[in-house]
Amino acid sequence: MATATATVDALHWAVRDSLITYVTRIARGTCTVEGGAVEGEGGVFSFPMRRAVREGDDWRFSFEGRVRFHAHGGLMDILIKDPEVVVGPDGGVLATHVDGNDDDLLAVVAIAAASPVDRADGTELVWDAVSTQLAPAAVGLFGTVYPAGTEMAPIGIRIALDS
Ligand code: HEM
Repeated sequence: MATATATVDALHWAVRDSLITYVTRIARGTCTVEGGAVEGEGGVFSFPMRRAVREGDDWRFSFEGRVRFHAHGGLMDILIKDPEVVVGPDGGVLATHVDGNDDDLLAVVAIAAASPVDRADGTELVWDAVSTQLAPAAVGLFGTVYPAGTEMAPIGIRIALDS
């Protein structure tokens, strides 16, 4: 079932609710998803997982897909591309690849300390509604409107474990 990939083994993140309202209703710009990312209910974007590696209590994930906010004739061009996520009991980070340079990562949000919950008889691991704050490196990406530390949308990750 095609939709299964979007709900299992995926990152779920709405970036920031007020940003989506601003881009689509106030600035009359566009919000586009590509490369496997999908926009679900309530403006929550899902990025399918490409890779998961456990390092001690930390998990490192590579997701795929792009979300782009475009407005003000291109003055605003915010791209979240193939997110790379670290999440663990000491906190983590969600970074985006920068367009045109696949090696270049920009930290977008710091992720609060979190541990996964077992679901479905231990065959799924879930991080649910983990809070995030804007990383200093991404203040410019959002036009310097939000200060570093601004609360952004919480993230959710769900992965199916191999039996
Ligand atoms: C022609 C240039 C621009 C104009 C006239 C403009 C105007 C505005 C206005 C009026 C608001 C307040 C909206 C509200 O909450 O009622 C706003 C918010 C905002 N603008 Fe712009 N803006 C411009 C360019 C940009 C650019 C280039 C960026 C990013 C690269 C940007 C990012 C933002 C963000 C992130 C917010 C806050 C949205 C929120 O979370 O509420 N703006 N802008």
